[in-house]
Amino acid sequence: MKPYFITTAIDYTNGRPHIGHAYEKVLADVMARFQRLNGREVYFLTGVDQHGQKVQKSAEKEGLTPQQFVEGVTGHFTALWEKLGVRYDGWAATVDERHKRVVQAILQKLHDAGQLYKKSHTGFYSVRQEQFLTDKERGPDGSFGEEWGEVVELREENWYFKLSEHVEWLKGFIRSHPDFIFPANRAKDVLNALEGEPQDLCISRPVERLSWGIPLPFDEKFVNYVWFDALTNYISFAGYLAEECGNEGLPDFSKLWPAEAQVIGKDILFPPHALYWTTMLRALGFTDGQMPRLIVHGWWNIKGAKMSKSLGNVIDPDHLAGVFTPDGLRYYLMRDIATGQDADFSEERIIMSYNKELAGGLGNLLNRSLNMAHKYRAGKLAPGGYDDAENQALRQTVAGALPAYSSAMDGWAIHDGIAAAWKIVTHANAYVDSTKPFSLAKDPAQAARLDSVLYHLAEALTHVSVLLDPVMPAAMQAARAQIGWAMPQSFELGDLKWGLLQEGHQLGTPAPLFPRLETAQ
Ligand code: MSP
Repeated sequence: MKPYFITTAIDYTNGRPHIGHAYEKVLADVMARFQRLNGREVYFLTGVDQHGQKVQKSAEKEGLTPQQFVEGVTGHFTALWEKLGVRYDGWAATVDERHKRVVQAILQKLHDAGQLYKKSHTGFYSVRQEQFLTDKERGPDGSFGEEWGEVVELREENWYFKLSEHVEWLKGFIRSHPDFIFPANRAKDVLNALEGEPQDLCISRPVERLSWGIPLPFDEKFVNYVWFDALTNYISFAGYLAEECGNEGLPDFSKLWPAEAQVIGKDILFPPHALYWTTMLRALGFTDGQMPRLIVHGWWNIKGAKMSKSLGNVIDPDHLAGVFTPDGLRYYLMRDIATGQDADFSEERIIMSYNKELAGGLGNLLNRSLNMAHKYRAGKLAPGGYDDAENQALRQTVAGALPAYSSAMDGWAIHDGIAAAWKIVTHANAYVDSTKPFSLAKDPAQAARLDSVLYHLAEALTHVSVLLDPVMPAAMQAARAQIGWAMPQSFELGDLKWGLLQEGHQLGTPAPLFPRLETAQ
């Protein structure tokens, strides 16, 4: 079977990573880990978008060369992914020479195929957004809004891609491939946006205005438009044209492509991914069956407002990972948003999710279960022959969690997947309260029942540690170490059956998995 190929948007390296960047990478990482657990071979590609006007300007401001500037900023991204356990297989940095060679080869191919032409244009240009503006972008008073920053009138010759030739195909493709965009309602938005006269895409910038980019191979006066360059990362780092370009150390493109999931935010669905990317691929000869699938997530807002440097409300994931632990942050980012919808970042909710759910719910269950087993049985499990309705009910909850979890996770409803696994945590906590192992321990006649209770708790927790592994890999590994059970390398969800812990199993040493935080912190 073909590997599950998952990519994310590549982040602009003109500023520090924020919570939105972290959310997207964690979402993709959780899916990659889930698919591995689900028995698929996975290739996870992510990276950074390092060219363009914004980077050139930021570098100038700091008195650095663009190369020095992007190296510094990129370091903040890679350090954060390391800290958050975002484990990728391929790193797409657009200053990589291998990528540049592929971009140039693609440009040459499109040029040779008559898909590019040169023309001159006069218009209003937004320096901040690096694009020419049309009347559509004018506000009611006729001026361009603040979001465009400085707007200047420019006359320029540029190279264009005959994107409009492919728009009819694109409409038909979207209509006949309901799976192309997740969630499905976004496909309708794209079809609406495609109404009207299609415009060709300007794919160059004159070098005198922008030098920090990839030169057009057939016209040295221009560099490539940053979006064209950036979108190409999905195939250049997947091994496209590797032989022709002399590229080494990349995957076998024929085995990897198309991507099962290109994870992007809603702001870059249209036009970049739904229009530019699809038509670029088609112009290069990619068939309908070779189109990638777009997974479009929503945004994290702050009290309903967009996060922005000017509002001073940018949330720093590095700081949050320090306070709530990396897995505590991953858990919050996955449990408090429905993939595809927006969510509001809230300090109260991240504190609640950590203290009440992780520390009070899961951590406490693990800690008290293991402590009791150590206190009453020196940490040695003896499932024995005792059984009753309460035990059966807990086993049923454990068995029922897996199918619900699997289908939710596979369908990108990570928050529902977590909820499915959490049913075990809730049930097991109630089971401790109703079976009262501390009372059973006082009555020698209840010894067999106590053995079965301690065993059921440890076994149920082992299942939880597997199900929540994609979301909290480090914490769940630590939980398994305390249980004394290591998940075999080849373990798959299909192997998750009651009876992972054997008669005589020796539990490890308990320690608080999520030490409770004082709110004042
Ligand atoms: N460089 C382009 C993408 C090129 S892909 C070939 C870009 N970079 S970005 O740094 O601005 O954004 C990177 C990703 O983070 C995008 O998918 C974007 O939607 C996502 N997010 C940025 N802010 C976000 C939130 N506040 N919330 C969730 N995701 C957000 O666009």
